[in-house]
Amino acid sequence: MSLQVEFRDITHSFGPVEVLHGVSFALEPGRVYGLIGENGAGKSTLMKMLAGYLEPSGGGEIRVNGTPCRFRSSREAEAQGIVLIHQEFNLADDLTIAQNTYLGHEKKRGWVLDDDAMRQGAREALAQVGLDADPDTRVRQLIVAEKQLVEIAKALVRKARLLIMDEPTATLTPGETDRLFALMAQLKAEGVTLLYISHKLEEVERITDEVIVMRDGRFVTRQPTAALTRHTMANLMVGREIADLYPAKEPAPAGEPLLRVRGLTVPGWAQSVSFEVRPGEILGFAGLVGAGRTELFEGLLGLRPAHGEVAVAGKVVRLRNPREAANEGITYLSEDRKGKGLHVDFGLAPNLTLMNLKAYATPVLSPARELQALAESLKSFGIRTGDPRQPASALSGGNQQKLALAKVLQPQPRVVVLDEPTRGVDVGAKRDIYFLIQRLAREGRAVIVVSSELVELIGLCHRVAVMRSGQLTATLSDEDLNEEELIAHATGNR
Ligand SMILES: Nc1ncnc2c1ncn2[C@@H]1O[C@H](COP(=O)(O)OP(=O)(O)OP(=O)(O)O)[C@@H](O)[C@H]1O
Ligand SMILES: [Mg+2]
Repeated sequence: MSLQVEFRDITHSFGPVEVLHGVSFALEPGRVYGLIGENGAGKSTLMKMLAGYLEPSGGGEIRVNGTPCRFRSSREAEAQGIVLIHQEFNLADDLTIAQNTYLGHEKKRGWVLDDDAMRQGAREALAQVGLDADPDTRVRQLIVAEKQLVEIAKALVRKARLLIMDEPTATLTPGETDRLFALMAQLKAEGVTLLYISHKLEEVERITDEVIVMRDGRFVTRQPTAALTRHTMANLMVGREIADLYPAKEPAPAGEPLLRVRGLTVPGWAQSVSFEVRPGEILGFAGLVGAGRTELFEGLLGLRPAHGEVAVAGKVVRLRNPREAANEGITYLSEDRKGKGLHVDFGLAPNLTLMNLKAYATPVLSPARELQALAESLKSFGIRTGDPRQPASALSGGNQQKLALAKVLQPQPRVVVLDEPTRGVDVGAKRDIYFLIQRLAREGRAVIVVSSELVELIGLCHRVAVMRSGQLTATLSDEDLNEEELIAHATGNR
């Protein structure tokens, strides 16, 4: 039961903006494809079309085993064995894991829902993806990585013959990622075709047979993975030679700390964590998912109950919510872009200025100034958008991330906390963000970067704090700042 899929001259527009300009390529059964391209290249759009989430607005056709197909819903595509795991999660927060897993495919006994069978099926799928959770847990209670694993479990029960994964590892730990790759190998052996979209080129290199490159809504090339290096992949994506990813490190600054945290405890997540950041310093936070890094900073910013002492420029402050924090000069980029970072149904300008309304109200909100700020941010952050009046949901994943970053920098904070700032961002844009982070530090701000990408922390930070099980276990710098040391401290093998 293999599946051959062919895109023939696919064109698609959102409103007046054409984003796919005649894409053609074919997928052979039982292979693992990497689909790569810059943010906004059209990867997700094309795959949503194949999986029945989006109807092509223009010409062209999709052929499945030689027959032209036009899917009007994901259920029609799933009936053919085509399943998509979304880049932005597609789960119902108020339903349980089991209910989400079987959403639209409910098991029934006669006329009634067979909850036991669904619970059991969900339990098996969870075991396969390695999520140790009760199928009756509501999805709202899960952290981002767990939601991602539920998405994968949900795809498994749909018995895909072509499984499309859009950035599935963006939120996973190395261990969870390894397990996913083992699962993919098993599916491949069973004849399932896999299409893997990722900006993590080392993963594309590791698990795919062939790489397909898209650029600006067009198919560029398709090559055996073995014939490519990460560097050539990156160059093919951006269409030019890219220079060093990281800016040259500046010497660690001396002087009084700008942010001083003493004994910060976030009940259930972090115990008595203390650290300092100087102006001009970039401090990284490493650790496994669940180590409490995100929760620590959510506590610091008043998003969770927390106690301890926080001082900015020597003055002890009480931060009960992000707005108070912004008033004291601290802003925070959330790792959960869709849930907490952006209002995806709002326009770009309101998203950008939401944290800094004062600056645009003279005394009433000035749309002209707002639009000017938007135009400047689109340019300086390299945000690609067809039409600046569209809602944030219309941006590609990586461009949403850049908008979220622009938003937290609008109030000109003295201290910025960036949680996974390059998640889902393409190589070119990653480089832009690294240089931007260095510029922020050079301007005398204190910058904290929470990241799961160790190479990124090593390339960028002066010092990296490591958290394990809610405790700060080490702070590494200079020659101690390397992957082996970081992993050893994060896993407790020290
Ligand atoms: N619902 C929408 N309405 C309007 N424009 C959209 C919509 N969805 C996507 N676009 C636009 O289509 C283009 C392609 O976006 P797409 O999400 O397919 O990119 P991508 O290759 O998946 O990028 P990323 O790597 O950032 O996820 C972008 O310019 C994006 O702004
Ligand atoms: Mg995408």
